[in-house]
Amino acid sequence: MTQEELFKVLVAHCKEYGYIFPSSEIYDGLAAVYDYGQLGVELKNNIKQYWWQAMTRLNENIVGIDAAIFMHPKTWVASGHVAAFNDPLIDNKDSKKRYRADVLIEDYLSKIEDKINKEVEKGRKKFGESFDEQKFRETNPNVLREKAHYEQVHNRYVAAEQANDLAEYKQIILDCGIVCPLSGTKNWTDVRQFNLMFSTQFGSTGDDTSTVYLRPETAQGIFVDYINVQKTGRMKIPFGIAQIGKAFRNEVVARQFIFRMREFEQMEMEFFVRPGTEMEWFRNWKENRMKWHVNLGMGEENYRFHDHEKLAHYANAATDIEFRFPFGFKELEGIHSRTDFDLGNHQKLSGKKLQYFDPETNDSYVPYCVETSIGVDRMFLAVLSNSYKVETLENGETRTLLSLPAPLAPVKAAVLPLVKKDGLPEFAQKVMNELKYDFNCQYDEKDSIGKRYRRQDAIGTPFCITIDHESLNDNCVTVRERDTMAQTRVPVAELRALIDSKVNLTNLLRNL
Ligand code: GAP
Repeated sequence: MTQEELFKVLVAHCKEYGYIFPSSEIYDGLAAVYDYGQLGVELKNNIKQYWWQAMTRLNENIVGIDAAIFMHPKTWVASGHVAAFNDPLIDNKDSKKRYRADVLIEDYLSKIEDKINKEVEKGRKKFGESFDEQKFRETNPNVLREKAHYEQVHNRYVAAEQANDLAEYKQIILDCGIVCPLSGTKNWTDVRQFNLMFSTQFGSTGDDTSTVYLRPETAQGIFVDYINVQKTGRMKIPFGIAQIGKAFRNEVVARQFIFRMREFEQMEMEFFVRPGTEMEWFRNWKENRMKWHVNLGMGEENYRFHDHEKLAHYANAATDIEFRFPFGFKELEGIHSRTDFDLGNHQKLSGKKLQYFDPETNDSYVPYCVETSIGVDRMFLAVLSNSYKVETLENGETRTLLSLPAPLAPVKAAVLPLVKKDGLPEFAQKVMNELKYDFNCQYDEKDSIGKRYRRQDAIGTPFCITIDHESLNDNCVTVRERDTMAQTRVPVAELRALIDSKVNLTNLLRNL
């Protein structure tokens, strides 16, 4: 199966098992908007808990808030979003389809990279054991030609991005012969800027209405509440404010399922520091956040940092944590050193002092800020795509498996009476009652035990607990472990501790 096919299967799997549905599907859905189903919401909540507790419980100097989605319109002037939260757009005149000019160029660059990698693979096959990849990359004429072309386009692209040169974007597209995937033509319009914020009217009568925006990031709620939290919480610098909440962007290229949505959720933490110490904290948070990811056990090799060449107007350092999604390494989380840009601008525009008196240095300043920002939905996709597997069993049958990190799994244990009679369902209900206060459990008595195991594998349940006739005599049950399918006989009295040792979020947090 190609990665593209695998991704399609994953999307179908999400729908089939109640993880994710297209929004308002009975009306044919709404582009780039999705609903989380009965299992999706559990996984999403577990991801949020892992983040929230890692931030606010493990760090005494980080507290959480929940700010409103609507904010005073001046917020977005101060943050720079009204003036600069734009995407460069281009239309194909034949297909009437709209694209992000930067994405067209980036896709073109990825294709060159693919060509180089294919060439390397050809070399590997040809030379076998004696293949020296580095030497091949440095000497093979085809690779060198493609590399030179990549660098030339890439350099022009970075320069155009830095200068915000829309005409140059178009010229690169024309020079590279990039065609519309639909019409196949190069009949492009000029490139123009498009603001990504959704706006709506606030107030009901003519005089008191004003245009407000649905927040495009949760961070600004933290900045405008900074002084309230600092004073009421008696917070001393360095300290952080964390928040989880919805954000909205009118994305032009809304694709790849929940990777890029128009309504999504962010987990953001703004860490306020003394000016001049921000680089140290930036490095610190880079390391801290990577540890949080790797701790989930989804493979260290699936993450990498990508330092930004072009810095946003507010940042003096920025990096992405990229994850190996089915469509390649892509941004999962951003870590930005935002200087005093946000607090400084809010101070100017509101006329309210947002300074901190530092008793250690005996002076007042607008704090600098290091931000960590991750999309809940993107994290969800990372977890899900990494966990989805189709395995061939010894008997030749296949099983579909979600090997989710156990503390994130929506259902921790399934309680399954072997048959629907002889007192087994009643025994199983007692087991359910014993476990349900600690874990999200599912009771299932329908179909053969094999089918029920498959169903639980497909939704990622770490444990299946089977009650058989022997259970009535020895008060023991069979516990089947999801990934290994190993079965052990366990006394009912020991079930709680056994499940807890694997699924408890606290154990995951202790490893951080
Ligand atoms: N406050 C900084 C900020 O919002 P960003 O890089 O634009 O920075 C941070 O977004 C994270 O939010 C991204 O790394 C990604 O995980 C998530 N994100 C951004 N746009 C998204 C979208 N349209 N759909 C889903 N997640 C998105």
